[in-house]
Amino acid sequence: MFDKFPRVRLAHLPTPLEPMPRLTRALNGPQLWVKRDDQTGLATGGNKARKLEFLVGDAVERGADTLITAGAPQSNHSRQTAAAAARMGMRAVLALTGDMPEEWNGNLLLNYLFDAEVRWLGDVSWADLPARLEAIAAGEREAGYEPYVIPLGGSTPIGVLGYVLAMQELVQQMEEAGVTFDRIIIASSSGGTQAGMLIGAEMFGFKGRITAISVAESEKGLRARVSKLVSQTLSLLGRPVKVPGAKIEIVDRYLGEGYAVLGEAEREAITLMAGYEGILVGPVYTGRALAGMIDMIRRGEIAPEETVLFWHTGDTAALFAYARELRRQGVMMAR
Ligand SMILES: Cc1ncc(COP(=O)(O)O)c(C=O)c1O
Repeated sequence: MFDKFPRVRLAHLPTPLEPMPRLTRALNGPQLWVKRDDQTGLATGGNKARKLEFLVGDAVERGADTLITAGAPQSNHSRQTAAAAARMGMRAVLALTGDMPEEWNGNLLLNYLFDAEVRWLGDVSWADLPARLEAIAAGEREAGYEPYVIPLGGSTPIGVLGYVLAMQELVQQMEEAGVTFDRIIIASSSGGTQAGMLIGAEMFGFKGRITAISVAESEKGLRARVSKLVSQTLSLLGRPVKVPGAKIEIVDRYLGEGYAVLGEAEREAITLMAGYEGILVGPVYTGRALAGMIDMIRRGEIAPEETVLFWHTGDTAALFAYARELRRQGVMMAR
């Protein structure tokens, strides 16, 4: 069923599945495991590598020589797209929101190292991005290139396929490790990762819950996007399964001071994970999702009897752009 979709191998798969015994003990909580999609490769890893295998496959099939995408200045998706373009001998044009900051750091620095062309969009709403990307693509065509536009977060039905298959990988690893997860926790934003996991869960027999922590917006908007992506991707696959609406679980309580604003909760989550497991989580997505999971454990919303998988989707390169915010707090826990 998946063979008919062109795919290029970009990610290091399967990513490790590991228990987190020290964080489990520190939280007095459920059995915690981690799925290391921060180790997918493409310049410090992350969830976009799985999506890009199919998106770039499609771009190559269509004869494209230029990948165009958009994001925030510290977009992980843009950085992984820039790395994928370099690997494939293609050009990358990145449309980033805001104005060029004085300091190039984190993902932004990496974009330049990959020789991506960065266009600064100034003050632009997410809703306007598709039109802006199309305008850039038109300019590229006029200049003689063959552009392929990848929407925000790579969340198209083609990109979603990467996370449908990720669930097959997980189910196999669960069998090998002899572990069953009651719940997966993920960070959700453009919705493609969540949509793919929901479909993959039905296709490959994952029975647990998939709880998404929204990092950027209230439940309503995200739910609409995830539902739409699920139904579009199911159409692409020929409707092999159904995903009941009740399986789309979104928690929007952890938006803090807004998208990409690192607060106390994220800082604590980052230092707990680093201090107890020697694993880095990021400031924008995975730190926020982990903070949400920790809070749900402390409130008893995630029960101590559960076995829970934190699906680490990357975001670690962005840490370096938050050095000031992270240092302000200093080390905050004793081992
Ligand atoms: C590190 C990281 N985690 C999670 C997400 C959310 O994934 P999605 O956009 O598929 O919802 C993103 C991207 O937006 C990301 O960069």
